[in-house]
This record gives sequence, structure tokens and C-alpha cells, in this order.
Amino acid sequence: MNDLNQTMDFRHQYALDRDCTTLSRHVLQQLQSFSSEAQDLSALMSRIALAGKFIARRLSRAGLVEDALGFTGEVNVQGESVKKMDVYTNEVFISVFEQSGLVCRLASEEMEKPYYIPENCPVGRYTLLYDPLDGSSNVDVNLSVGSIFSVRRQDGEDLNGSADDLLQSGRQQIAAGYILYGQSTILVYSIGRGVHAFTLDPSLGEFILSQENIQIPDHGPVYSVNEGNFWQWEESIRDYIRYVHRHEGYTARYGGALVGDIHRIFMQGGVFLYPGTVKKPEGKLRLLYESAPLAFLMEQAGGRASTGTQEILDVIPDKLHARTPLIIGSREDVSLVESFIREENRDRQEQILTSKS
Ligand code: AHG
Ligand code: MN
Ligand code: MN
Repeated sequence: MNDLNQTMDFRHQYALDRDCTTLSRHVLQQLQSFSSEAQDLSALMSRIALAGKFIARRLSRAGLVEDALGFTGEVNVQGESVKKMDVYTNEVFISVFEQSGLVCRLASEEMEKPYYIPENCPVGRYTLLYDPLDGSSNVDVNLSVGSIFSVRRQDGEDLNGSADDLLQSGRQQIAAGYILYGQSTILVYSIGRGVHAFTLDPSLGEFILSQENIQIPDHGPVYSVNEGNFWQWEESIRDYIRYVHRHEGYTARYGGALVGDIHRIFMQGGVFLYPGTVKKPEGKLRLLYESAPLAFLMEQAGGRASTGTQEILDVIPDKLHARTPLIIGSREDVSLVESFIREENRDRQEQILTSKS
């Protein structure tokens, strides 16, 4: 064996090539460019990965660290009790982007208004929208939680801080992804060129490519929904649930953290639903930093995301923390849920017409 072959053999044996496919390198490969734009996006993803490492580290020792678990006693802009880990994770994202020159503005579930990093403006051409800790009810019981992120180009200066330029459809996203803190820490991202997963190798302290070009099956057995809300739903959603109860081949999985539940759907197919209720038709999940980034990934993976009557990526929010119903997953399964909603809407229309005539 000559020297070159020996080298090739060594690289193959230790999968060195794959292990060297770090997140920042992958972004550059995807863009096939070393332009400043590509370098920025690569650096931006590295910062998000750094936030993920900080959060994974704290979560892994949460039971041993003072002041990691439990509530702060505050209520956030969403009207939800704030957990200490919500505050920590929110601040991690701010800290990693300070003096980065990348992101001028951050908007998060935990902050009523966007947070400006003046030293990054006007150089930072991007806005980061994020849910720093998704599934926070899981955090005190050592179950999976996540972070969700979305990157948009910063349009103009937003001098009055109203962030009106963010009130645009999800098609304006240039990158999106999530980090799942589970048995391992996995970062899944897309810059509009497929969906790719990276697993944190704790011994290297790096996210290494573990799955490229994830494609979701057209149909899967899983339906993932909080059935405790059954009596609060519209009849159409109840009918859909009755349908899956009465047909073979369905199985329920619900973990209480969107990121975990959706990750399962990406891997195995099926559908995740967080519908509106009669009293709260807009549902629970927030468009800009929960539903829209996941919809961006889902479309890239060959699946769909819908409100029930509209594609999630076409929804234009009326405020930063706007909510929408979410039905997301395999194409056939999303369409099935929509067909029940359409039927109910049609029945309602007919009733209105009959009562008028
Ligand atoms: P968050 O912890 O960021 O507020 O999000 C919680 C979300 C989502 O992760 C999950 O799917 C859903 O809320 C769970 O809600 P229910 O407890 O109402 O099922
Ligand atoms: Mn969330
Ligand atoms: Mn959250």
C-alpha cells in the first residue's frame, strides 16, 4: 500500500472526514462560497451552536447547581410563569451575540420588545428570533427540552424600535432550526438547502454532522397532540381525533416539548397539532419564533405546516408575539386534518346560508 492509500485508509477507518464536518464548515459547503455573506452566516450558526453548548452544559448539571431549577416568581409577556432556566437560556443567546458584529437585534419569547446590541449595528445585518427554552414544563423533571431559532435579514434601521419590519411572512426567513437537549444534544438547521442534523460530541465540544438532507415520509403513524384539550376544541379537531381512534395504524406520542415531538415527526413521519380552542382560536404557539421556523424546516424536508386553512409560511403576524394554530408534519397527515376543518367550515357556511333563506 502506498503512502497515499494508507492515508486514505486511515481517514476512512476513523471517519475523520465526517467528524470534521462541523456546523460552520457545513454552512460554507452549502453556500459553495467564501463570500462575506457566507462567512457571516457560518459565524452566526457557530454562535447559535455555542449558545446550545452553554445550555446543554447547564441542563446536564441542573440538579446539582444552585438556582438552576424552579420558577423566578415573575410572569412574562405571554402571561406565563417564568422559570429560572427561561431567564438563563434567554441571556445566553444575548451574551453569545454581544460584540459579534453579526446580529443587531434579538427578539425572544421571553422579551416583550426586541433587544438591541448597538455595537453590532449597523454592521449586523441580521435579526435573530428565538424561543430559548421550549417545553419548559419538562425542565424540572429532567425530560427533553429545546431551543428554536429563526434568522431574518434586518430591513432598515428600525429607529423607533417598533420592529414592524418583522411582521412579514415566514418566507422571509433565511435560516431556521432547533436544538434538542435530549439523550444527546442535536442541532437541526436549514438555510433553504435541505435540513441537516448535527450531534454535539461532548469530547470535542463540537456539533458534528450526523444526518444530511432529512426527508420526512409522506405519511407516518404518529399523531402528537395534547388530548387533555379535547373538550375545548372545535368539532372538526375532535372528529379528526375520533377518526384516528377508530382506524388502525395510528399511535399517540406527546412529550410536552414541541422540539422533541417535532423531532420524532421529522425522523418517523406523522403529524403534530396544537390547534386553537373555542375560547382561544389562535392556539398557544407563537408564529415568529416557534411555528414559522419549524414550518421552514418542514417544507425543506418535504412536509407541510398549516394553520388548518393557510400555509404557516404565508401567515403575516400582526404583532411580535402573535400566535397561530399549528398542524405540521407529513403531507398526507396534515392534509387529512385539514380535510376535517374544511368539512366543518363548509357545514357552517351551509347553516348560515339556510338560516338566511
Ligand atoms: P414554551 O415552554 O416555550 O412556552 O413552549 C411550550 C409549548 C410547546 O413546547 C409544547 O408543545 C406545548 O407548549 C405544550 O403545551 P401543553 O402543556 O398545553 O400541552
Ligand atoms: Mn416554546
Ligand atoms: Mn420557551
